[in-house]
Amino acid sequence: MLIAPSLLSCDFSKMGEEIARMDKAGADWMHLDVMDGHFVPNLTFGAPIMKWVRPFSDKPFDVHLMISDPLRYIDDFADAGADIITFHIESDSDIDKTIDKIKSRGIKAGLVLKPKTPAEAVFPYLDRLDLVLVMTVEPGFGGQSFMADMMPKVEAIKAEINRRGLNVLIEADGGIGDATIAEVARAGVDVSVAGTAVFKAENPSQAIKRLAAY
Ligand code: DX5
Ligand code: ZN
Repeated sequence: MLIAPSLLSCDFSKMGEEIARMDKAGADWMHLDVMDGHFVPNLTFGAPIMKWVRPFSDKPFDVHLMISDPLRYIDDFADAGADIITFHIESDSDIDKTIDKIKSRGIKAGLVLKPKTPAEAVFPYLDRLDLVLVMTVEPGFGGQSFMADMMPKVEAIKAEINRRGLNVLIEADGGIGDATIAEVARAGVDVSVAGTAVFKAENPSQAIKRLAAY
């Protein structure tokens, strides 16, 4: 299992150092949650901040856009050094145009599904994606409880990926930690986002190692 610590749970007064700390602790990807206070009821940071912290790690920056009009900001996040950009299928942007824009910048593209969005919604786009992110909480905040009832959705997407012989990763985000990682792995998730479980751990390096063992 690849582990992507969510910076949403970091100490933002030293975000760069927190990224370096996660890099050293063995994180596979850095997960950056971008919120606009409109698509979700919370605000975080945008591309200018990301540009400042980009030099603190060479690991892939996995940018999760929880914003209403992702297409408008793809160039900004590309310029700021994103390696992977995921955006919500429920957003207002044209999905095909947004995927094209991400790919035109040489960045991996992913679609994100909120809990109420069914697996089938992503099927028309699967052939053009590098990953699918399945939310296991309602997007907006860290520290929420894992929704185990999202696992059939993961299994359905995985089955479709395999049926078509595609090379698309499945990522899960929200409430993942020691108590839930086994279920996540069993359903076929390739990349787990973990905020609270890593940042609130006494020893983040051991926490990442435990989760990555699945
Ligand atoms: C929620 C974010 C998640 C969140 C995960 O909207 O997308 O990345 O930070 O945090 P935990 O692991 O604490 O649920
Ligand atoms: Zn996220």
